[in-house]
Amino acid sequence: MSQLFQRKPIAALVSDTEGSKGLKRTLRAGDLIMLAIGAIGAVIGAGIFGAIGTAAAGQIGPHGEVIRTGAGPALIFSFLLSAGACALAGLCYAELASMIPQAGSAYAYSYATLGEIVAWIIGWDLILEYAVGNVAVAISWGDYFNTLLRGFGVTLPYWISTGYRRALLSADPQLHGMIGTAPHIAGIPILVDLPAFAIVMLITWLLLRGARESATANNIMVAIKLVVLSLFVVVGATHLKAANYHPFAPNGFTPNGFTGIHQGAAIVFFAYIGFDAISTAAEETLNPQRNLPIGILGGLGICTVIYMIVGAVLTGMVPYKELAVADPLARALELTGFKAVGWIVALGATVSMSAVLLVFQYGQPRIFFAMARDGLLPQWAAKIHPRTRIPWATTLLTGIFVALWSLVGDDAETYDLTNIGTLFAFILVSLGVLVLRYKEPERHRPFRVPLVWPVSVLSAAGCLFLMKGLPDAAWERFGFWLVIGLALYFAYGYKHSGLRRSGIPLK
Ligand code: ALA
Repeated sequence: MSQLFQRKPIAALVSDTEGSKGLKRTLRAGDLIMLAIGAIGAVIGAGIFGAIGTAAAGQIGPHGEVIRTGAGPALIFSFLLSAGACALAGLCYAELASMIPQAGSAYAYSYATLGEIVAWIIGWDLILEYAVGNVAVAISWGDYFNTLLRGFGVTLPYWISTGYRRALLSADPQLHGMIGTAPHIAGIPILVDLPAFAIVMLITWLLLRGARESATANNIMVAIKLVVLSLFVVVGATHLKAANYHPFAPNGFTPNGFTGIHQGAAIVFFAYIGFDAISTAAEETLNPQRNLPIGILGGLGICTVIYMIVGAVLTGMVPYKELAVADPLARALELTGFKAVGWIVALGATVSMSAVLLVFQYGQPRIFFAMARDGLLPQWAAKIHPRTRIPWATTLLTGIFVALWSLVGDDAETYDLTNIGTLFAFILVSLGVLVLRYKEPERHRPFRVPLVWPVSVLSAAGCLFLMKGLPDAAWERFGFWLVIGLALYFAYGYKHSGLRRSGIPLK
């Protein structure tokens, strides 16, 4: 029992990162700028290019059931609501990240604060944020890629550009009907998303070549995504119609009518995921104590402003119901007569989302690596390449996992699963800050959460509120995921934990 809540001493966390056991510190001068830019690289992606459409228009299931209510133009309040929760959680992340400069993100922080079992749950949960999140991004990438190809007059056969679950969960009779019309092998319909699969494999290959190239590629992609979103806003703003803003909040602002904004916030939360990913690079960043908090909060603030502007323009261009598509930005441009601009935006979207994929495919293996180094996962997962010093085994494993799921997955389902897992991790991190303040008040904190009690409690409450805006199916799948994780912990990690074997007396 005491092992379950044993905490890894912070000194041990820091010493793990020194010498041959650690990753190489390569992210140097200009860190501050690079981290802020890196944040945008990780954050702006499928949330604003894809999930925004579902948030505005709502979603209907295959049997006509309402899965979520659309926010309409009041979507901008969904972004604000989500940003509020993220800012509070971001402060908590910043305090822990700056105290514990080690790979592993919330996983490592919680190991030092809340104990082994909670750390395991968070690490397991982060697979939803990083790997499953990337499935959603890859699927959205594939949609914009198809739009792009159509600009060249090329249309891929539907059965190699649509994942099986997407057809299964769709209310659109044409999409749902693909299950029957697709080629079958041994009675199994062949409905796969090859573009999504291919981009994940390509990104994995890039990462296996080393982290330095990835950081440079990320910077270039960030510049492109800012240019493309600006183009969308400038062109879209010439075509706003007052009528599209009526009704502004289709469900109203009353407690009942608030549903659309609330459920919209729960799905566009995806657009903010990533500001915490910067902390996974802590072990490879010079002077993380100073740069991390600035990178995390600065990146979040910039993104919020951009999202609200894009959201306001998008819902002013076309009636919000038109946005129930996978590539809403390109669609809105097309409907308003800017087909060529829509094509450029599709190009920018694919580039932007490649950057997101890169950052998360970079983060996930490092979390697995940290967990394996602690003995909670098998040792082969902690293998570092002798020359590049990157965790190659977990990089490859993550790539294969994400690519295979992308091949058959559904975007909305994976957005929801990612959001619920991430929000849950945020809650544990927020509470972790409080626990550590109470247990180790004297410890040096390069960054301190201001008004820690209200901020961390509100952060946890805000995240729980967003979780409640997600469909029931997401809660069920999340519960299932947690049960599998706990079973794995007791079957493996509990026995092989490095802390248990190191002889550090259990408290
Ligand atoms: N925030 C990232 C995106 O929207 C995950 O793609």
